[in-house]
Amino acid sequence: RAKIMTYNSVDDAVHLLKRSRNIVVLTGAGISTSLGIPDFRSKETGLYSQLEKLGLGINDPQEVFNIDVFRDDPTIFYTVAKDILPATKEFSPTHAFIALLQNQNKLLTNYSQNIDNIEANAGIHPDKLVQCHGSFATASCQRCGHRVRGDTIFDDIKAGKIPRCGKCITALRSRGTGPLKRKRSSNSASTKRSRRNFEGFDDDDEDDDDSAYDIPQAGVMKPDITFFGEPLPDEFSKRLVKHDRNHVDLVIVIGTSLKVAPVSEVVPFLPSHIPQIYISRTPVSHINFDIDLLGDCDVIVAELCRRAGWKLDHPMVPPN
Ligand code: OAD
Repeated sequence: RAKIMTYNSVDDAVHLLKRSRNIVVLTGAGISTSLGIPDFRSKETGLYSQLEKLGLGINDPQEVFNIDVFRDDPTIFYTVAKDILPATKEFSPTHAFIALLQNQNKLLTNYSQNIDNIEANAGIHPDKLVQCHGSFATASCQRCGHRVRGDTIFDDIKAGKIPRCGKCITALRSRGTGPLKRKRSSNSASTKRSRRNFEGFDDDDEDDDDSAYDIPQAGVMKPDITFFGEPLPDEFSKRLVKHDRNHVDLVIVIGTSLKVAPVSEVVPFLPSHIPQIYISRTPVSHINFDIDLLGDCDVIVAELCRRAGWKLDHPMVPPN
């Protein structure tokens, strides 16, 4: 008969870490807060609490990441985007811990909800990482789908401008004699008319500035972050359902409130006999873990490594 194991102590967690070979690590914003990047839902310090104070004209701060709101008015997202652009080359001790699991060939997959791309700074390989909510690494045109490297639009974001699609702009310009041009001409004609009436002269240069006309008609670029109302990248369910579900031997969830589906459904989806550890400041009540390790995740992973006899190499971790 199968022996039913129960796990509950820190030493049980250490034992599980040492014996496991295929660990799924599911992470959230809590693993980056020690780098000064706010999480989303912590009271006072979380991004949503900060956005409430900005009076963005939305009912719920989560709407900043809602695709319908973005389509209606991208300025709401772009008011906030400049403050959440990935800006650091650092990584936290918890990122270092995940990299350590990888380097010991114990990491099956890191499912990260984070869009800060800090996993790369820590050396977590792209083939070990699923960025469940996308990232700023690429951006796409909402009209024609044209995709560019994410940093192509960073200057516009930092300048508070709405980035437009270069491919759309080129296409619109080359169609200069088509319907677009005619519509523009009639608009500019009425502008000129009023100018002439008001100022008594005609501004002949006005038609020469193509971009001033084309840009508002070109598609809006959006970083390939998964907004509420958008599907997750295909890789998320493909890898989880077709592969990881059959191979996982330990689940570690770190620094997430598990409030957002479908990522919140990963733990209940995996076989129930697979041990599950939860590491975070705030307990969750909607999912039962075998072991809850509550507190600062950097401190907890450093202690787990110390007890396992592993060297967690990071400037914020005192040597053993
Ligand atoms: P949340 O802000 O909802 O949860 C972060 C969790 O980490 C909270 O439970 C905190 O208590 C905890 N935490 C913060 N700092 C910590 C620390 N140093 N040590 C341990 N725990 C700490 O963030 P997520 O769960 O990641 O989606 O949010 C999920 C998704 O909601 C995000 O990906 C984002 C958001 O809307 C999109 O933007 C699409």
